[in-house]
This record gives sequence, C-alpha cells and structure tokens, in this order.
Amino acid sequence: MAERYDPKVLALICTYCTYTAADMAGSMRLQYPPGVRVVKLLCTGKVDVLYLLEAFRAGADAVMVSGCEIGDCHFLEGNLRAKERVAHAKELIAEAGLDPGRVEMFHIGASDAPKWAEAVRQMTRRAQELGPNPLGRQKAQSLAAEARP
Ligand code: FES
Repeated sequence: MAERYDPKVLALICTYCTYTAADMAGSMRLQYPPGVRVVKLLCTGKVDVLYLLEAFRAGADAVMVSGCEIGDCHFLEGNLRAKERVAHAKELIAEAGLDPGRVEMFHIGASDAPKWAEAVRQMTRRAQELGPNPLGRQKAQSLAAEARP
C-alpha cells in the first residue's frame, strides 16, 4: 500500500457551473480536502491536452476537469470537447507510465455543491491510493541533484 501523503490535486473548472458549485460549497462550509488547487476557466472547452500533461510534469498528483452538465455548456459543446481531451490525456499518460485514473472529467451543475465536494474527495482518495506522481518525484530529485555542489 502506498504511503499516506497530502496529494496535490489540480482542478480546471468552468466559471458558469462548477466554480459556482465550489463557491457555494465554501458558503455551506462543506468539508473537502485542502490539497485541491482551482483554476477557473471560462469554459472547459478551453482545456487543452497539453495543459493536462504539463500539470503532471509539474508535479500534480491528480488532475480533475469539471464543467457544466451535459447539455448545459454555455458554449454548447465545450464540455463535450473537454471530455474527449481528458479521454485522450488518459491514453497519453498511460503511455508515460502514469495510471490513467489520475485524470478525470466531471460534470457539476451550479447548485450541486455536495457533488463538487465529493468529486474532490474522490480524486484525493484516488491519488492517495496511487501514491505520489512519480514524474513529480523524479523532477524533484533531478532538481535536488542539480542544486548539489
Ligand atoms: Fe461550463 Fe462550457 S460553460 S463547461
């Protein structure tokens, strides 16, 4: 079993739905892991596969993309495009040796604060079970090696 640690979870979320739910979760004082770092986007259709790969290269232990419910995207199909890109990112990170479960797509409506809190718990649990991102550890080790006299 992997050691216990506090995973770094990156959340790329759309401003219209999931961000509102996350904001409401705060107002409702719902408890969820503090290791999540939120980046607000106009729409998840903005998410590029390269953003997801770069997040892992930079040391994220898990990445979640969360947009509006299917059919509710303010830009019509942005969340569907994001869903396809997350699926593609799963294939690419698997080729790089990472568990594809480290990246996931969610659809969370503006009034669904409990769903947001549960999604963060789910990704944090998953990252805890998988252990730290080995790419992040390798990067940290190489940086440490470079810093040695
Ligand atoms: Fe929310 Fe497109 S506006 S996912």
